[in-house]
Amino acid sequence: DTATPARTPPMGWNSWNHFGTAVTAADIRHAADALVSSGMAAAGYRYVIIDDGWQGERDARGVLHPNAKFPDMKALAAYVHAKGLEFGIYSSPGKRTCGGYAGSAGHEAQDARTFASWGVDYLKYDMCSFTRQLEGKPPARQVAMMKAAYLRMHHALDATGRPIVYALCNGGWGRIWTWGAAVGGNLWRSSADIRSNYQSMLFNATSQLGLQRYAGPGHWNDPDMLEIGNPGMDDPAMERTHMSLWTLLAAPLIAGNDLSAMNADTRAVLTNPEVLAIDQDPRGVQGRRVAQRGPIQLWARPLANGTLAVGLFNTLDHPLGATLDFEALGLHGAVPARDLWRHRDLGDIDTRRVFQVPAHGVILLELGVPAKS
Ligand code: GLA
Repeated sequence: DTATPARTPPMGWNSWNHFGTAVTAADIRHAADALVSSGMAAAGYRYVIIDDGWQGERDARGVLHPNAKFPDMKALAAYVHAKGLEFGIYSSPGKRTCGGYAGSAGHEAQDARTFASWGVDYLKYDMCSFTRQLEGKPPARQVAMMKAAYLRMHHALDATGRPIVYALCNGGWGRIWTWGAAVGGNLWRSSADIRSNYQSMLFNATSQLGLQRYAGPGHWNDPDMLEIGNPGMDDPAMERTHMSLWTLLAAPLIAGNDLSAMNADTRAVLTNPEVLAIDQDPRGVQGRRVAQRGPIQLWARPLANGTLAVGLFNTLDHPLGATLDFEALGLHGAVPARDLWRHRDLGDIDTRRVFQVPAHGVILLELGVPAKS
């Protein structure tokens, strides 16, 4: 990382999708261990993030303490740092978080100092009970209040002098993508909460269409954390679809599965280096869907080297043959193609080439000749 944090979409792991509010310090240690032993850390996953459920009570001076499941936050952060990883935590601009734990309302500066003193490198800041203050207000007023709340924590984090990636979360309310960067956000949830099934995953991906112009180095749209490897999303074809869509979207890659119990397929999907290189492409352009024909969807993302990452998706639950619409891709004639999941050069292909796309699956390709710089 250089001066701007999150130059490329953040990669890491978060406790929520698998552990919920039951998460413990031991779970976080095990996740850090597994990030390293699985090869995920080497592949670029850096942030170990505790979501909701770590908070205890405030003391007489207003200092927020963790609950009994997290006896020593500083030691936990040090454990994560000693593995070469970074440490993330969760709070809310409301009085209460979505899980009913203490939020940071009225204690922003104090909490930011507490987080910095523990060694926090990433904060997910989730609206939750703050939404109650917005009820009945005109939309413009709601946006002004959300901006002020997010800005307050941004300034508080800044004042600590510690670089902390700032992840905003409000479900997309008030078109947060249009103002998230202005309040210091490095990423903002631009979707509903993801669930561990194909339809929810596809819905979150398609809800990002039209938001391309708001993403770029340092500030990303966030269709939510990965469900890859969780029950309901543990079919390898679906896992590759989930990963391919997030990659084409230049989305943050925050794994949400139980890393200590991960199978080889899930691990391979999360660590495929050619696919991760697309997500982390330095140009940082968010891709889009360029064509849809019945159950077949064609997505594309332009890359820094002048080539095109292309996903051919089959949304049905049985395999289909499909071709690439070269016109929609802006391509003519024949171009060299590489299959990124299979690590195979396919030679030159044209628009007549038929691909067998698995049920709920994807063919992910890189098309074209790298431009000479
Ligand atoms: C909201 C967020 C989730 C998670 C929970 C925690 O629903 O969208 O990602 O952080 O709160 O309570």
